[in-house]
This record gives sequence, C-alpha cells and structure tokens, in this order.
Amino acid sequence: MKISYNEDSRVFKLDTERTSYCIGIVDDDNFVGHIYYGRKLTEDNLAYLMRTMEAPFVPSQNNRDRTSFLDTFPMEYTGNGLGDYREGTLEVRTADGHTGVALSYVSHRIYDGKEELEGLPATFGQDTECRTLELVCEDKILKLQVILSYSIFADSDAIARSVKIVNHADEAIYLTKVLSACIDMDNDDYEMITLHGSWARERAIQTRPVMRGKQSVSSIRGESSHQEHPFMAWKKRTTTEETGDIYAMNFVYSGNFLAQIEGDQFGSMRATMGINPYGFCWKLEPEASFQAPEVICVYSADGIGGMTRCFHDLYRNHLIRGEYKNKKRPILINNWEATYFDFNTEKLLSIAKQASELGIEMLVMDDGWFGHRNDDNSSLGDWQVNESKLNGGLKYLVDEVNKLGMKFGIWFEPEMISPDSDLYRAHPDWAIAIPGRTGSLARNQYVLDLTRKEVRDYVYEMVATVLRNANIEYVKWDMNRQLSDLGSYGLPADRQGELYHRQVLAVYELQDRMTKEFPHLLLENCSGGGARFDAGMLYYSPQIWCSDDADAVERLSIQAGTAMIYPLSTMGAHVSDCPNHTVGRITPFETRGYVALAGTFGYELDVTKIPEADRNMIPQQVAMYHKYNDLVREGDYYRIAHYADNHFYDCYEVVAKDKSEALVTYVQVLNRPNFHSRRIHIPGLDSEKTYVIANAQDWPEIKQTEYKGDTLRYAGINIPPLWGDFKGRLMHLTAK
Ligand code: DGJ
Repeated sequence: MKISYNEDSRVFKLDTERTSYCIGIVDDDNFVGHIYYGRKLTEDNLAYLMRTMEAPFVPSQNNRDRTSFLDTFPMEYTGNGLGDYREGTLEVRTADGHTGVALSYVSHRIYDGKEELEGLPATFGQDTECRTLELVCEDKILKLQVILSYSIFADSDAIARSVKIVNHADEAIYLTKVLSACIDMDNDDYEMITLHGSWARERAIQTRPVMRGKQSVSSIRGESSHQEHPFMAWKKRTTTEETGDIYAMNFVYSGNFLAQIEGDQFGSMRATMGINPYGFCWKLEPEASFQAPEVICVYSADGIGGMTRCFHDLYRNHLIRGEYKNKKRPILINNWEATYFDFNTEKLLSIAKQASELGIEMLVMDDGWFGHRNDDNSSLGDWQVNESKLNGGLKYLVDEVNKLGMKFGIWFEPEMISPDSDLYRAHPDWAIAIPGRTGSLARNQYVLDLTRKEVRDYVYEMVATVLRNANIEYVKWDMNRQLSDLGSYGLPADRQGELYHRQVLAVYELQDRMTKEFPHLLLENCSGGGARFDAGMLYYSPQIWCSDDADAVERLSIQAGTAMIYPLSTMGAHVSDCPNHTVGRITPFETRGYVALAGTFGYELDVTKIPEADRNMIPQQVAMYHKYNDLVREGDYYRIAHYADNHFYDCYEVVAKDKSEALVTYVQVLNRPNFHSRRIHIPGLDSEKTYVIANAQDWPEIKQTEYKGDTLRYAGINIPPLWGDFKGRLMHLTAK
C-alpha cells in the first residue's frame, strides 16, 4: 500500500497490492484529472495519458475553447454549469441564485490511517492498516472548499472515497447535488451489472451494455430499496466469474442514491455515485461543512468473483463492527411465519421448549407484542408490552426462555408511527407529512420525523426501556414503508430539502446509540425483507434480513445477488415452512437447510406443527451449522453456476483462506429426464493439494473420493442427476 506524489509531473499514484489509481493536476488552472485505474503499474509518471495536449483543448492557452476542454477532460470530481455537459458531481445555488461552480487543486495531505466520517458509516482501519490522500480543491469565487478523500488498505484492493464541502464565504450557500465519487475512463465496450428487484425478490443480477447516453439505477424512496441497489459494476464483455477486468462502486449509505454511467460523444464514459439529487437541497452556513457518504471502488483482474471477494474481505475486516463481527451467531427461531400476530406467552413458550430440545439457541419474538397490535393497523410507536397477549409480562417470558437455555430476541420498528397509536394521538406533527395534505399511508403507517431531536430521544428511550428491563440479547430492527409526502414540522422552509438525508443520519444516530448502550446485543436490520440491505446498515448490524421470501429456490437468486457484494455472514437466512408462504412451493426440508446455511441460519416456522420427519432433521441441521459456519463466515465465496442463468441448477462454494477445506453447495432446481451427470469445475482450491470428499457417504454415486486441487478446478467432477426437483447436497472437501 503506497500513496505517492510526483512533484515534477504533478501526478498522485495510489497503489494497493494489485491495483493502481492515478490522478493528475494539470494546466495553470490546476484541474484535477483522472488518469488511470486498473492493474498495478510500476511507472509513476502517467501524465502523458492526460488529454491536455490535444489541441485546441488547453484552456489556459486557448480560453475561448474552454468548454471543449471541460466537456471532454477526464475529471476526478466536477463542478457545474461552466462547460462540462456530462453528469456533474457538485451543484450549488448561491444567495443570488447562480449555479456555476469550478474546482481547482489547492493542496494535499497524505497520512497514515483514515478519519471517521462524522455521523456516517464508513470503512475504518488502524494507522498501520490504511493510508489516505486528501486533495483540497476550491472554487475561489465562491470560497467553497471541496476535500476529496481516497483511502487504501494494506489487505485490500478497494479504494474508499468520500467528499467534504466547507463553506468559507460570508453567506450561506445551497448544495443541490453532492455526489461522492466519479470515475471517467474510455468505454472499452463495457457491460454494466446492477441489482434489481421488488418485495420478496430482491437483488436479481442484471447485465446490459454500457451505451452512449445515461444508464442508471437509483432510489428516491428514502432507503436503498427493494427495487434497485446502490451498486454498479462495469466489466469487459469477455470477463467471466474468474477472469478479466471488472470495476465496481458500492455506496456506504442507506438512503436515496444515484448510480449512473454516462457514455459520451467520444466513446468515453463517466461513472458517478452518490446521494440522489432528487429533493436534495442542503443549506451550508458560513464555515459549516457537509460530509458526503463513502463510495467503495473496486477493480479486479480476476473477474466478477475477484470483485466479490474483495468486497467481502473489506467489509468483514473494515466495516462490520461489534461483538459478533467474527463470531458464530446463535441459531434462532423467529415466530413471524409461525404465528404472525396470533401469539401469546404460552404459544411462544411451547415453540421455545420444542426448539431448545432440538438445539435451537434463541427465540425471537416478532411483530405484535406491543400496544394493541393484532394486525398491521395499529400501535407502532407504543412500545409498551401488550400484557393481554404476554400474560406475566415480557420479563417473565424472557426469563422462562432463558431457563430453557435459550437467548431471547425481540422485534421493533422504531422509525414508524401508526395513526391508531397513543403516540400519534399525542403528537400528530411527529409524522413526516406536508402540512395541509393528508399523508399517504403505506402498510397503514407513517414515518416518524426523526430529524427532530425530541422525537429521536423519545423513541430511543421507549425502545431502550424495553431492552433495559429484560435479558434481551438480539434486536430485529424493521422498517416497513418507504418515505413519501416529504415535509417536516421541525425544519424551516429553506431546510426542507435536507429531510431525506437528515432522516438517514437520524437512523444512524439511533442505531449508534443502541449499539453503544447495549454492546452485547446482536442487531439485525430488516426492511420489509431486504429493502435496506446495504453497506451503511452493516456498519451498525453484522447481519441483515435478506428477504421476506424464504423459499429455498427464490433464495438461491436473492442470496446470489446479495452475495455479489456482501459476505455470507451478513445474510439473514432461515428455514421456513412449506408450502412456502410467499410462493406456495414445496421444497425438501434438507434443501431449505442447505440454502439457509449460506447465511446466518435459523428457523421461521412453528416447530411444534411441522411434520415429524422434518422436525427430526433439525438436530442434524444444527450440527451441520456448527460444523460449517466458521468456514461459511470466514471463507472465500465462489459462484459456480446460477440457476437464474441456466434454469436447472445452482452451485456455489466457500473455500477456507488457507485452502485446507471447501464446502460446495449444489441444488438441482429442476430434474431433467434422460440426462447425464453435470461436470462441475471447483475453483479456488490449491493445485498442489490433494482433496478428499469428506462426506463421501452423501455421494454414493461418486466412487473416487480423492483428487488433486487442479484436477477439480480444471477437469472438474461429475455430479450425478438427483431424483426429483429442488434437491440439494453438500460436498465437503478437505485437504489431506
Ligand atoms: C417485515 C419483515 O421482513 C418480516 O420478517 C416481519 O418482521 C414483518 N415485517 C413484521 O411486520
């Protein structure tokens, strides 16, 4: 890891173990240009690549053609309104109503370590683990300072970028757009990968060519969303899972975002990512600063899989925090799909008793334990126990569960308020709403205006009081509606455009408070399934509920998309009931277990009611989880085959960092008549090592049990056809 500055050529170079990133300062105007991002280079003077000498594009000598220069020059971060017609990263409005802004380099600082981003989630590292370049730029006319930060890590090829704006003028300025990162490069016939979905089918992988014009994904829903994801990658057409160039950006943020690639007139492209400018207007008083969230940039020459493993390692080592960061999570049983709102102490205890006998380690009580909530029409905001359901109170229930040797977890939705709640009756102005307009309900609820300190404090105290009064060791923090009707009774007219972002900052502040006051708590985020599964939330909770669809087949796709960026240890995954409550599909209990094993692992069913044969399988699944979870949590993940592409089978693998073992999961989604075995190539193994199929008893059709690593990788192994649909098996390979 090295950051250098060549004073003669005025070129900055950031070197990670396998990549280089180069920035150049050019012309008398000190434009900050992007030179190169890709494979590691030994050369540190790449100034020759900058297109400054291509006449007539030299603004200091040829001022009348300044726009031609600005419109084509590859920028690190752009101004607005002065001649660069591509997507800009910074836009402002002055007190006079003007919008022009131009940035030039002023100074820089290179230091060990990485500073925190105030109020925001961000990657972190000790002084020995990372190094940061800060480029201080300014618009001299506006007296606006823009600090571009780039951090690199000793053990990662990722680059963490962020932007801070400081107003040194005597009057306030309005920031109307502050994106966090920009990469300009020639479009080498790239294809763009993005993640799309909806409720119950989050993060499906989509690939399309990078064309001229703009192609983007975004959210204006107040959260990262089910629909699109704050991630994009662009790769060469020839790039595969394991080989070839790929670039990616992922946003460490949980609110509105824009991720866009714009193909321009000369076949270049500009990739940008940041807070969506929609509805955004931030008033920056004199000497005040605005910190934009972090974007993680990754380049890999090792294909889509190389990019994935880079994100996984970075997030495991430098984003996720807390006691459970590197720890096996308790196997939980959640009562949502078991009972929905229809439960009481007795029912929960009967589930817990049966579950504890089978080896399950924690009972999670989901929605419906508070106020008078018996359906989703009421009580959000009234975080007091409903004693007519929980006779004996919450502490009694928790103590009884503890006596069974189990931990206890609870569900909250702290950001919400039901119109039918004591809280709303007392404080109707605490809901986000446009005065004079009836707010739009979603799932019969409004969003609390957490930008108001009194609202934040009140909600926090209510939630914390519950946590303080019983031995609660896990919280599922849910969020079941997206934002609309943006208006705050607490913000002045000229700050209403800050509401979306301030709301996200408020959620971060609340989760920060909670994890500080209850450091032993396991926090799992959730949003109507996986609508807020993002890198921002991972800073506060080491796991996030992936989707409300726990059908094993649907989950193959949802988990493949999620695991494109996020480590398996973060993916909330449960064995659920059949026929599946979302799609009605019947899948074998074993397969449901194998698929949930690729995540946090748990159960979401009434264990007292499922078929006995399934129940009897739970102790084996529990043992399987304990046997493989360290490998799943800590290993390198490889996608081998994706049923969404081939329509018949799915296969992925986790390999231990020291290559001593690997676990291959194979799911035959649909059987085919009259079909021979499938040749599977198993990547990531040590070519020199000999591997044994340690669970050979599960593969009676495969007679040979020992193979060299390179044989499995390049020649592969024949997986026999399995009888029936939705059949899964594990193959555990151990090095001799
Ligand atoms: C949505 C979550 O994703 C579910 O698991 C469940 O907690 C419900 N909300 C409860 O309302």
